[in-house]
Amino acid sequence: MERTLSIVKPDGVKKNLIGEVIGRFEKAGLRIVALRMLKMTKEEAKGFYIVHKDKPFYDSLTNFMSEGPIVVMVVEGDGAISKVREIMGATNPKEATPGTIRADFASDIERNIVHGSDSPESASYEIGYFFPSIDLVSTTS
Ligand code: RTP
Ligand code: MG
Repeated sequence: MERTLSIVKPDGVKKNLIGEVIGRFEKAGLRIVALRMLKMTKEEAKGFYIVHKDKPFYDSLTNFMSEGPIVVMVVEGDGAISKVREIMGATNPKEATPGTIRADFASDIERNIVHGSDSPESASYEIGYFFPSIDLVSTTS
């Protein structure tokens, strides 16, 4: 069983897509094992996306991610990291496979509705960023 961190980004919340995103994960057989709504400060967004600190889009990305409420969730299942990224589609919606969340709803490469961890290491950092381990429910008992 693998766990990954997913976020409905501020544009996804504004477009009323919280249920749509969660529904797509559930339909793929993934389970939600933790869930919160919050609004990040700019500093919190910078810490979350620290791996991108040297990228040209870091400032704009962290402004966007702190502009409004987001929904953060831990998603569990076999191959959850790659399954979530498949359901999301490519970063740039113009390159995303039809039927993926980003192809269906994203407006541009930055405002792309949803986030998903890209490796076990980033999943571990990102889950710990929002959830103490006591908040992760067990799906086996
Ligand atoms: P994410 O981390 O949010 O799941 O997205 P990702 O892996 O598909 O893309 P990544 O390269 O990690 O980039 C993180 C987020 O930064 C914004 N971005 N803007 N203007 C640009 O060229 C650009 N490139 C990336 C997007 O919001 C992207 O999801
Ligand atoms: Mg990424």
